[in-house]
Amino acid sequence: MLNIAVRAARSAGDLILRSSDKIDHLTIDNKSKNDFVTEVDRMAEQEIINIIKNAYPEHSILAEESGEQKGNDFTWIIDPLDGTTNYIHGYPQYAVSIALKNKQKIEVGVVYDPLRDELFTAEKGGGAMLNNRRIRVSKQINLSTALIGTGFPFKFPQHLDAYLDMFKALTPKTAGIRRGGSAALDLAYLSAGRLDGFWEIGLKPWDIAAGVLLVQEAGGVVTDFSFNSHYLKSGNIITGNLKMHQALYQTIEPYVSEQLK
Ligand code: IPD
Ligand code: CA
Ligand code: CA
Repeated sequence: MLNIAVRAARSAGDLILRSSDKIDHLTIDNKSKNDFVTEVDRMAEQEIINIIKNAYPEHSILAEESGEQKGNDFTWIIDPLDGTTNYIHGYPQYAVSIALKNKQKIEVGVVYDPLRDELFTAEKGGGAMLNNRRIRVSKQINLSTALIGTGFPFKFPQHLDAYLDMFKALTPKTAGIRRGGSAALDLAYLSAGRLDGFWEIGLKPWDIAAGVLLVQEAGGVVTDFSFNSHYLKSGNIITGNLKMHQALYQTIEPYVSEQLK
């Protein structure tokens, strides 16, 4: 199943790259405020689904652009292009994200960055890899030397104040904060020790399913804002190595509103 996920991710990545010199001619639709989709997102998603369905016709699909296809307990969770806003602007930070969930457990996760040809893969219990080399989360234990990733809650004005309070509390304590624009890549980078921590509000399952397994298999801790594991449902996520997660959680916790719990 990992092989199929890799084949699908690479194939979608190739398509995304081939189309990137035609960005100026792409039809860009607005799904909702600040939420864009292009025909490249849709074509890449179809490519992924075709490869998966060909191998596993009985499996279920949850894909960002085309929604759900009900099948058995195995569900493929697909973000064909994570970082569409970056892609449209030619900002080189985007990825394909594919995960496989069996009942409630994520078993396979693949994040592929076609620009750098970086393939992040994880299998439950089998560790996390970058281009076939084992990766681990960083060993950083102090926030003061930590590089932290995040995303802005641009679709959720109701959470902006809480988010800004978290940001205000964290910024002076850390070595730096980055907003890359692709949550899937942020989590992949965390699993490879390039980021020491990460938090974001309001993500979708397809943004994080693969990345969460990468982080866990690389030795990291992932929770929602209530210290539970309902992040796929709430979309609110805090992650890092054990110590970093603790430090992030403690700093953010005072600003977690009832709706974010
Ligand atoms: C977006 C990216 C971004 C995050 C947004 C997502 P998309 O995904 O992951 O980093 O902040 O919330 O929607 O729309 O480019 O697939
Ligand atoms: Ca996404
Ligand atoms: Ca997307």
